[in-house]
Amino acid sequence: SLGQDLHSKRFYQWPLRIKDIQQQSIDANNNQITIQGWVRNVRHQKSISFLEINDGSSIAHLQVVAENPESLKGVKHGACVSVTGNLVQSKGKNAELKELNLESIKVIGDCPEDFPLQPKLHSMEFLREIAHFRTRSNTLGAVLRVRNRSTQLIHNYFNRHGFINVHTPIITAGDCEGGGEQFHVSSTVPPPPTSTTATKNTTPTTNTPPPFFGEKAYLTVSGQLEAEIFASSHGRVYTFGPTFRAEKSNTSRHLSEFWMIEPEIAFINLTDNLDIAEDFVKYLVKNILIECKDDIDFFNKRVDKNLLARLEKTVASPFIRLPYKDAIQLLLSAKEKFENPVSMGIDLAREHEKYITNHYDGVPVFITHWPKNIKPFYMRESEEDSNTVENMDLLVPEIGELIGGSIREERFDHLHKRMSEMGMNIDGYDWYNDLRKYGSAPHGGFGLGFERFLQYVTGLQNIRDVIPIPRYPGFCKF
Ligand code: 4AD
Repeated sequence: SLGQDLHSKRFYQWPLRIKDIQQQSIDANNNQITIQGWVRNVRHQKSISFLEINDGSSIAHLQVVAENPESLKGVKHGACVSVTGNLVQSKGKNAELKELNLESIKVIGDCPEDFPLQPKLHSMEFLREIAHFRTRSNTLGAVLRVRNRSTQLIHNYFNRHGFINVHTPIITAGDCEGGGEQFHVSSTVPPPPTSTTATKNTTPTTNTPPPFFGEKAYLTVSGQLEAEIFASSHGRVYTFGPTFRAEKSNTSRHLSEFWMIEPEIAFINLTDNLDIAEDFVKYLVKNILIECKDDIDFFNKRVDKNLLARLEKTVASPFIRLPYKDAIQLLLSAKEKFENPVSMGIDLAREHEKYITNHYDGVPVFITHWPKNIKPFYMRESEEDSNTVENMDLLVPEIGELIGGSIREERFDHLHKRMSEMGMNIDGYDWYNDLRKYGSAPHGGFGLGFERFLQYVTGLQNIRDVIPIPRYPGFCKF
């Protein structure tokens, strides 16, 4: 039985990994360990050689010292190796670190000299071209760990507040954001009838049937509308899944495929929504600073010297809450000349977002109550001004918009009117309207772009570098 297996000798023994080595105590009688990983560097001196090994478990490399340089002959940078040796306190300049005195080495996978990832500083553009190797570099290795830890923290946050995680569909029929930026789902078109099955009366079809077994279908741009179904039964839910946008945006902040975290919560108002979003971002940043300390220190040193200060400020300062009309006034009164003219009713361009976050000295800013006519159909009209909606975007320094969210229109007649005004096909949203007809509850939520968040906590300039394998116009290599 499983229970017996767990207690038997056959149960898998997890080998030691480099991240745990510095905490290992050195036992004078038995300090032999074996480590498997990839060679990051080989250095030969006259009578001594050094290897740097990394196994992905941390930013740290393990230094292996070979007193007989012959034993490292033929061991190349990039190779996959298994090293056995004695763990000792370093005799070099980093005396606080432990290192391995080599006893034996086995090359598991040799690495020819033409390995594109050389032990030098490569540009991020070059690393993108070798996306299948780039997580073996320090920067992308650290990104993958921070991404993983952030994922766990996101689930922890919602779990501790009683949310249900729901998996909403990837293939959908609607356009949540109304931007028409959807990828069509295309499947194999059924073959035409063969001559033996065709009867005299069969008229050959000339129209290609729509691709999803006869229906139009798209890749989802957001799980929000479906999440509203489950908020109407479970009160607090969230989705965390891939979303797709067919916008041809070749920018450092847009991907064709990105991951979004979307909580949807019943019985809240806009102030609650802002409080939750602020608490969520602070919780994530605060815990990443603690739990990913080594990686964040690396990013602070090598990518962006202001990163730590910015993140600490995010945790410590109350976020600014600014109505859209005041944001526009602020831009209008700016001395700066903007390329994109400012007036009431515009959507904010990147330069405007930058100005606003700089103005508040790098403290994140919520812009609330945007004009109704530049926002999607589902947002609830503001009580005070029916030309605006109960919504918010969160702007953070360096990135711009990190979160978009709102209170949803929960009143059947108001929603119906708005959809008609916008010329929408109401029949296609029967199910959505039903949620308002039968036991409607006030509710709202927001979407946080996971990769923008990762840019924020790593300081990386380009969103293509914080996702394991990016998808953007012109890049769908594997
Ligand atoms: O503002 P958006 O479009 O909001 C929604 O999709 C809502 N349905 C969310 C909700 O209320 N549940 O997108 C939300 C966030 C943006 O603030 C941004 O961080 C990110 O998703 N985002 C992108 N990230 C990467 N590439 C793109 N092309 C993105 N488009 C939006």
